[in-house]
Amino acid sequence: MTANPELFATARLACPICSGALTSSSRVLGCASGHRFDLARQGYVSLLSGKGTAHRSDTSDMVAARTRVFDDGLYAPIQRAVAAAATGSTGVLVDAGGGTGAYLAASLDADTDDRVGVSVDLSKSCARAAARAHPRGVSVVADLWASIPVQTGGASTVLSVFAPRNVAETTRILAPGGQWVIVTSNTGHLADIVGPMGMLRVGDGKTDRIDADLRADFDIVSADRVRASLDLSADRLADVAGMGPAGFHRSRDELVEAAAGLAAGGSVPTMIDVTVTVARRR
Ligand SMILES: C[S@@+](CC[C@H](N)C(=O)[O-])C[C@H]1O[C@@H](n2cnc3c(N)ncnc32)[C@H](O)[C@@H]1O
Repeated sequence: MTANPELFATARLACPICSGALTSSSRVLGCASGHRFDLARQGYVSLLSGKGTAHRSDTSDMVAARTRVFDDGLYAPIQRAVAAAATGSTGVLVDAGGGTGAYLAASLDADTDDRVGVSVDLSKSCARAAARAHPRGVSVVADLWASIPVQTGGASTVLSVFAPRNVAETTRILAPGGQWVIVTSNTGHLADIVGPMGMLRVGDGKTDRIDADLRADFDIVSADRVRASLDLSADRLADVAGMGPAGFHRSRDELVEAAAGLAAGGSVPTMIDVTVTVARRR
């Protein structure tokens, strides 16, 4: 299921070189200044501005692990909460750091309207997966820390789920009254497996930091905690660890070995514990 190339024309994308509106013809996007970007065979478009980036993006192993976790419905409680928060507006929905597009797809599925979704990610492996995630979704490779290649005021909703947050760029692309849905981990998130699997610890208080970051241009509408039990087999334990930052510094073999040891008695119980914050652009 690859998105229809015509959808790119309605996604309010902007040229990464001159910021002009991008229109699409056949499988090429272009702006009035003559900058051109080909759609890749796998259905995504790269709008990297050519300077390269210092940032690390997810690898194909991490993407495969994340796909298995979503396919098994393990993160469905978070997908449902994000989808519920993202419904109710009609314009373009942008998933910034969208990964495999699982949250974008859940949000578009929950919509009564036929709005278009845009997944933006630095990783080509993610972009390939996101291009197949939903028939109303398009997939773009871009560096969120450079610019988000969406027209000023072009988005009605932005999702940031466990992903880098560029406040200035998100403020620019959101239309007044638009909403930013942010998911952050609490200290209880996967707490039973973080140490044994060599994962990064997260701190509480992220919601306070969000509040401070957004104060100038946003009103916080809600901050809801989502908690749910998980029972992880050894394979999924290796996947949940490997789809996050541990996937950068631990090999698949190391993760599988650690998971087999921890799940020696069968499965390992742990908890999802995240906060879904909704902020409205003034
Ligand atoms: C922890 S993953 C979350 C992915 C997805 N939101 C999810 O929860 O399944 C963070 C994502 O941000 C992407 N990313 C990291 N740095 C980025 C950047 N500078 N620009 C765009 N995407 C970036 C990664 O490639 C990765 O897909």
